[in-house]
Amino acid sequence: MVFYRMKQFYWAIIAKINKDDVDFIKYILNIKELKLFNKLSVQEQKHSVKVAYDVQNICNNKYKAVNINLLLKGALLHDIGKIYGRLNIIDKSIVVLGDKFSRGRLKKFSTNKKINVYYNHAKLGKKLLGKIEKDDRLLYLVENHHNEKIIDDLELDILRYCDKRN
Ligand SMILES: [Fe+2]
Ligand SMILES: [Fe+2]
Repeated sequence: MVFYRMKQFYWAIIAKINKDDVDFIKYILNIKELKLFNKLSVQEQKHSVKVAYDVQNICNNKYKAVNINLLLKGALLHDIGKIYGRLNIIDKSIVVLGDKFSRGRLKKFSTNKKINVYYNHAKLGKKLLGKIEKDDRLLYLVENHHNEKIIDDLELDILRYCDKRN
């Protein structure tokens, strides 16, 4: 876990969107989705692209039955709710550590907007995307990408797995 956090921190510092990433993003997202995506911080954009690359690799190798187009969109847009309160890398480290040491209590007592966005970004993202998307399945994936209670949903499992790795 600590290793993951360190890796995330490292990637967040050096995050850059390159030409290949841009081509990939444009291939998957439509104009409206792209407009939203571009409002994410570069770090969040890079994270989302990496999640999508992992989704692609995993699905090409193993899961031929899943709806890859849907899942790639889900991967790129899963954290879109974070555009409401962009956390910089220092904010994020503080929230992650605060959450760990308070054993989740930070969530209940915080009135800080950024912290609330951090905890509610999945729901916020679903609401925001709902304005431009008709696909309920996509909205469902975004809304539940941190919901560990849902099991037996292969596409959600793949998304969560790839999210955690990045
Ligand atoms: Fe998330
Ligand atoms: Fe994520």
